[in-house]
Amino acid sequence: MQTVLVTGANRGLGLEFVRQYREAGWSVMAASRRPDEAVRALDCDAALLALDVQDEQAIRALPEVLRGRQIDLLINNAGYHPGMQQLGRINYSNWQTAFHVNTIAPLQIAEALFPLIPSGGKIVNVGSRLGSIACNQGGGSYIYRATKAALHCLTRSLAMDLAPRSILVVALHPGWVKTDMGTSAADIEVGESVSGMRNVITNLGPQNTGCLINYDGVEIPW
Ligand SMILES: NC(=O)c1ccc[n+]([C@@H]2O[C@H](COP(=O)([O-])OP(=O)(O)OC[C@H]3O[C@@H](n4cnc5c(N)ncnc54)[C@H](OP(=O)(O)O)[C@@H]3O)[C@@H](O)[C@H]2O)c1
Repeated sequence: MQTVLVTGANRGLGLEFVRQYREAGWSVMAASRRPDEAVRALDCDAALLALDVQDEQAIRALPEVLRGRQIDLLINNAGYHPGMQQLGRINYSNWQTAFHVNTIAPLQIAEALFPLIPSGGKIVNVGSRLGSIACNQGGGSYIYRATKAALHCLTRSLAMDLAPRSILVVALHPGWVKTDMGTSAADIEVGESVSGMRNVITNLGPQNTGCLINYDGVEIPW
């Protein structure tokens, strides 16, 4: 049985990843800073892991907590959107939280866990089209865009450095999804986004590593 570890698993896309991978017969580790919420939300037997991704000590302890268990797929999903941040009204006080959650933590988690990922294993960083410099048409979200662009950059570094171990690393854009972050005005439901991303993940090959890919499989330019 294959094992997936998902961060930010208590709501939104993370919770749906947990639900769908359990349904598909995977062993699922649902990591969140509010495991009790995940317990209530989930009607399945995923293993619950308490993890605030800003807690660097907890991240360093992960391999020990997991007792060296093999992780076939790591999904760095936890994310934070610090508001629209229009020019002239940018609030700089939440830069640090946004960078910590969206950029630094996924790298720290990948660094802690890659020794547990076997050849053929995968790391997925949930990125965003808003972090694509090529697609940027303005309209605010300065901080969020910057944190996701940086996440995309380190996705490429990880992909290059882990290629000799045959570990694939990609950034996925989930679409504009109806979650707390995406709001009810978004285009698609969590189920459609996650089943699309799961399909992309299943079909990943060495030609895809280090890329930013939409939930429907279409590559997005950097
Ligand atoms: N929804 C969209 O349209 C969209 C589009 C592009 C990219 N994304 C990305 O998709 C991912 C999931 O987003 P979502 O839409 O599901 O958002 P969401 O409903 O707001 O959920 C965010 C998740 O991240 C977790 N999180 C935030 N800070 C954390 C921390 N310090 N430690 C642990 N967990 C933390 C939250 O946990 P708490 O409940 O504890 O806060 C929650 O589980 C994010 O990376 C987001 O940037 C979403």
